[in-house]
Amino acid sequence: MRPEIPPSLIEEVRAARALVVLTGAGVSKESGIPTFRDALVGLWAKFDPEELATPEAFERDPAMVARWYDERRVKVAECRPNPGHLALADLERRILGQGGRFTLLTQNVDRLHQAAGSRRVVELHGALRVWRCSRCGEEREESGGPFAEYPPRCGCGGARRPGVVWFGEVLPRRAVDEAEAAVRDCDLFLSIGTSALVHPAAGLLHEARGRGASTAEINPERTPASDLVDWRVEGQSGEVLPDLVARAFPDPPPVENGPGRRTHPGRQVPP
Ligand code: OAD
Repeated sequence: MRPEIPPSLIEEVRAARALVVLTGAGVSKESGIPTFRDALVGLWAKFDPEELATPEAFERDPAMVARWYDERRVKVAECRPNPGHLALADLERRILGQGGRFTLLTQNVDRLHQAAGSRRVVELHGALRVWRCSRCGEEREESGGPFAEYPPRCGCGGARRPGVVWFGEVLPRRAVDEAEAAVRDCDLFLSIGTSALVHPAAGLLHEARGRGASTAEINPERTPASDLVDWRVEGQSGEVLPDLVARAFPDPPPVENGPGRRTHPGRQVPP
C-alpha cells in the first residue's frame, strides 16, 4: 500500500523557497547498502562501532580498520542510486528552476546522491572513496579495486586512513559552516532515512524548527525527531520521494533548448 503523503506537505514542497534536506543511511538501503542501526541487518549489528569507527581503533589496528573501510568502499562502488536518490536530484532541479535555494546535507559516505545528479550536496561525514595520509594529510580519491596493502601507504610513508568522520572526531569545518548557513534561512527541512541519533547532524532539524522552518520526516520507523516534525511520512524513501516530487511538480521538467535556455515542451523558442 502506497505510503500516504499529506497534501499540505506536497503544497509546502511546491512552494519552498529555501529547502534543506538531511539524509541518512536509510536513503541508501534500497541501493543495497546496509544502514548502521537497523536491528540485526545494520552494520553495527555485526560490529561494535567502538572497534572500528574511532581514531583509537585505527591507532590500535590500522590494517584491520583500513581493510574494513576499503571493503565497504569497493562494495559501495558497485551500488547504484535508487529512485529516492533520483527524486532528490529532480527536486533540486525543480526548486532551483523556480528561483529557490536547495541544499542536500548527507550523513552518507557513499556518493550516491552525486551519482544520481544532485549538485548541492554537503557531506557531513566525509566520503568512503577519499583517503587521507595520517602523517602529511595528503588526500586522494580512490575509485579502483581493493588496496594492495593495509593500511595503504602515502608517498611520505604515512598510513592512509579513510576520509570519513569517526566517533569522537569533529565534522569538516566547511561542511558545518555550509550546513548552518543553509539551515539559518530555510523555510522547509526534510529529514529522510536517518535515526536522528548522531549529533551534530541530528541537531540541525531542531535548529531549523527554532528558526521557524516547517519540518518533515520520511522514515518507515519512528525516531526522536518523529514527535517534533510538522509532517511524518511512514515509508521507504525510494517509494515516498518519487511520489512526493511528482505530486509537487506535476508539469514535465523544462527542457534545455540551447546552452542554458530552458523552455517548456510545446513552446518553440525562436532560433
Ligand atoms: P542509522 O542506521 O542510524 O538509521 C537509518 C535510518 O533509516 C533508520 O531510522 C531506519 O528506520 C531508516 N530506514 C531504513 N530503511 C529506510 C528506507 N528504505 N527509507 C527511509 N528510511 C529508512 O543511519 P544514520 O541515521 O544515517 O556516522 O546514522 C547516522 C550516523 O551514525 C552515520 O552517518 C554514522 C553512524 O555512526 C558516523 O559514522 C560518524
